[in-house]
Amino acid sequence: MDMTSSKNTGHLDRMLTMEMARVVEAAAVAAARERGQGDEKIADQVAVDAMRTELNNLPISGRIVIGEGERDEAPMLYIGEEVGKGGPEVDIALDPLEGTTICAKNQPNSLAVIAIAERGKLLYAPDVYMNKIAIGPGYPAGVVDIDASATENLHAVAKAKDCKVSEISTCIMDRSRHADLIAEVRAAGAAIRLIGDGDVAGIIHTTEPDETGIDLYMGIGGAPEGVLAAAALRCTGGQMQGRLILDTDEKIERAARMGVDNPNKAYTMEEMASGDVLFAATGVTDGNMLRGVKFKDGMVDTHTVVMRSSTGTVRWIEARHRDSTKS
Ligand code: FBP
Repeated sequence: MDMTSSKNTGHLDRMLTMEMARVVEAAAVAAARERGQGDEKIADQVAVDAMRTELNNLPISGRIVIGEGERDEAPMLYIGEEVGKGGPEVDIALDPLEGTTICAKNQPNSLAVIAIAERGKLLYAPDVYMNKIAIGPGYPAGVVDIDASATENLHAVAKAKDCKVSEISTCIMDRSRHADLIAEVRAAGAAIRLIGDGDVAGIIHTTEPDETGIDLYMGIGGAPEGVLAAAALRCTGGQMQGRLILDTDEKIERAARMGVDNPNKAYTMEEMASGDVLFAATGVTDGNMLRGVKFKDGMVDTHTVVMRSSTGTVRWIEARHRDSTKS
């Protein structure tokens, strides 16, 4: 265990990982009260409110770089909003409710998620789509390549894993834009878990293939979610690449305003999240890696993972809280 203090390393204060757990717990509990109610907007709004309140208690000078949207479209936790009560200058990527539809339908794998890094170390990704490919830890560097075909990537992963392609399981979002990808993966003989939403969880699931049954994530989802997933994989040691889909002049200009000068660039995981990165997520609904929030007998149970890139520590936190609505 690396118990090096942040004083000596110049890294982010390690106590911040515990503080971050409170932030995602609060957002998850708030969203979970709206679980299965069919109203995505309310579920998201209560998660945003709860996360923002907790964030403003953190001893940081935080700047949101991945948030609820641009300032004119999101009143809270917008990109550029300053949060925290003062402390080290950090950048923050967050999604108070990743998988709003999943939560509204009470389906698996919706999360409250946050990543914190030193200032300037997270990619300022515009709210556009991103093509992504990700695998978990333990593979040689460069085993997958976003510019290779799905078939080539499947064969490369199978070879590295010393198994047949038919033993590889992929995760792909169930979208019509993926029709060709899905057909190619099936023709190659690999299995697919099609997910309706929530590709941050889909990508994190590659880090524990024995538990989740997912070896490889491929396909197009949100760019902000891509940066959050890259932050998580930086901590667990997987590999990921992402390319922004900037298919209109407006998107290219918007991305350029955020510092993206090459619209075709394929970003490595390190280019999306570098330096010392902290990541935390709490399950809202039950999932493959995190259990959802449980309300029982005036108490609230949460299940959270907190991770840190500089040490590679992954902590699973089961917490029991008093239900504040019952007192
Ligand atoms: P929300 O939490 O904003 O509902 O996003 C859910 C999500 O499924 C992400 O996980 C994913 O990256 C993105 O939406 C995909 O977008 P789309 O639904 O437009 O395909």
